[in-house]
Amino acid sequence: MVHAIPDDTIRRIQNTANIVDIISEHVVLKKAGRNYVGLCPFHAEKTPSFTVNAEKQIFYCFGCHTGGSVFSFIMQKEGLGFPEAVRMLAGKYGIEVPAPHLTASQKERLSENERLYQINEEALRFFQRMLIDPQQGQKAMSYLLGRGMTRKIMDGHRLGYAPARWDGLLRHFQGKKVAADWLVKAGLIIPRKGKEGFYDRFRDRVIFPITNLNQQIIGFGGRVMGEELPKYLNSPETPVYNKRRCLYGIDKANRPARSTGRVYVVEGYFDVLALHLYGFDNTVATLGTALTPEHVQLLKGMVGQAGQVFLVYDSDQAGIKAAQRSVAVFEEGFLDAKVLVLPRGYDPDSFMREHGPDDFQKAADKALGMISFIIDAAINRHGLSLEGKIKVVAEVQGALASVQDNLARSLYIKQLAERLGIDEAAILEKVRECSNRQGPPRSTQPQAELRAPADGARLEQQIVAMMLCYPPMIPEIVGRNLLDGFEDGRLQEIARMIVHRTASADESAADLVSSIEDPAYRNLMTRLVIDECHWDRQGCERVLTQFEARHRRRGNEDLQRRIEEAERNKDMDLLSRLLRMKQQQAGKGLINL
Ligand code: UTP
Ligand code: MN
Repeated sequence: MVHAIPDDTIRRIQNTANIVDIISEHVVLKKAGRNYVGLCPFHAEKTPSFTVNAEKQIFYCFGCHTGGSVFSFIMQKEGLGFPEAVRMLAGKYGIEVPAPHLTASQKERLSENERLYQINEEALRFFQRMLIDPQQGQKAMSYLLGRGMTRKIMDGHRLGYAPARWDGLLRHFQGKKVAADWLVKAGLIIPRKGKEGFYDRFRDRVIFPITNLNQQIIGFGGRVMGEELPKYLNSPETPVYNKRRCLYGIDKANRPARSTGRVYVVEGYFDVLALHLYGFDNTVATLGTALTPEHVQLLKGMVGQAGQVFLVYDSDQAGIKAAQRSVAVFEEGFLDAKVLVLPRGYDPDSFMREHGPDDFQKAADKALGMISFIIDAAINRHGLSLEGKIKVVAEVQGALASVQDNLARSLYIKQLAERLGIDEAAILEKVRECSNRQGPPRSTQPQAELRAPADGARLEQQIVAMMLCYPPMIPEIVGRNLLDGFEDGRLQEIARMIVHRTASADESAADLVSSIEDPAYRNLMTRLVIDECHWDRQGCERVLTQFEARHRRRGNEDLQRRIEEAERNKDMDLLSRLLRMKQQQAGKGLINL
């Protein structure tokens, strides 16, 4: 994990901050046996499945499978990154966070990002200067004023203008002795094809800086002022810019979203500016992409679990398409979203200017939840004839199947059955069909980050849990070379991290768990730690022996397969080598001949 805070400081904070106290500031906790339980702040629930273990200093929700250390809690609750969460707790307990101490490669990675932020910042200053330059920026300035933007909005959102030449920015940076490589890396210039030299990516465009939560500039968007195509040009992916993870306006929207518990998601740059202009500061835009799971996590960080996301679209068609595409992503993220479709012919920008903020607020208050919206839209489109009803069910069954909460799902089904005058059981069956096709709900999104380990890795999971809960076993596990036999690469990596970290210092389970970067694995390990804290030496031995036996069996099967293959291919060299291996293993008692 690349951050600038020394491990022992993190450990000190971890030891000082009591997870029960910290979580109690947000959740009413009741003692229940060894644990404390309460209503989960990360998903809507009526019976408590949110569990805090004081002894291990971890939390886990058996409902939405979110878990981790006190740091993970603060990160999710406050929408902060790891170092920010650590700093926040440090501040709370008056613990000083010393100056960074990083390895060479960490420094390099951090400083590469820092350098890119600096370059982007410098580029933006240049663009901003061009916009207010009476000669260069005149056309852009009148374009922006013509679109209802004020000087205050332009300054506040740091709008700029990229001049109409091939080397405006390039020359600016040449004057500052910045190497072209860096500008290419930042996505600001492009190498000429088949020739020496470079040219500016953004030319004769109004510039919108895209920032992260910390107001660092991660990339840019640029709009033409006429009808040329493409209308908008965005930065390419760079080490600091990934469009799946960025929301335009997030730096300004974060605070008001947190305090109101609401966030509006619109489609474009100007929509954000128009809403901010009329006092809806809690607005962000996805930049030409469908909402990703990363976006949902960001939004959840902004408004909290109980918060409300409004997806604002300028036509039914856009709204329906987006709702259908995003419903599973929101369900997976346990976050509620409503769909707000503006009257025909308006986008948020033009609606605000013609109708004003009160009407916008009214429209938001009437917005439907995603599922209801999808159902309504389907009924509107297909009508209630016999054929219509069949089409409606076909169109909504996928959305219903993705609803994670059983109670909510059955209420939607009941309501749909009533509206269509169909038997509830018939709809239920359709939805089941759909869920079976989709597989278990949490695995419908095939994304690397949320992929949990395969079932075959159960013993491997237990071994890692044992390492966390019963550290005296670690030398034994290392001595028997068990980690080499792990099939799940990520679990192996986590296990090795634990070995490495515990070798040099006494680490708590919570500390170790919070060092697992992959959220799916972090949650999983937290559950194992909170679930299975009854380890004793005998229990551990049993698991290790089982693992060894399984590993050996697999090795034998593998060897046998290779022998058969060598026989088939008449590869006598290989065959005799493999048979010798088999002999040797048998000699060691590792194989049954
Ligand atoms: P729209 O085409 O709806 O544009 O694209 P808009 O925001 O209403 O733009 P104006 O009002 O005509 O200026 C919505 C968003 O999709 C992305 C941009 O982020 C845009 O704001 N987009 C659109 C692109 O990235 N490239 C394009 O060529 C068009
Ligand atoms: Mn528009």
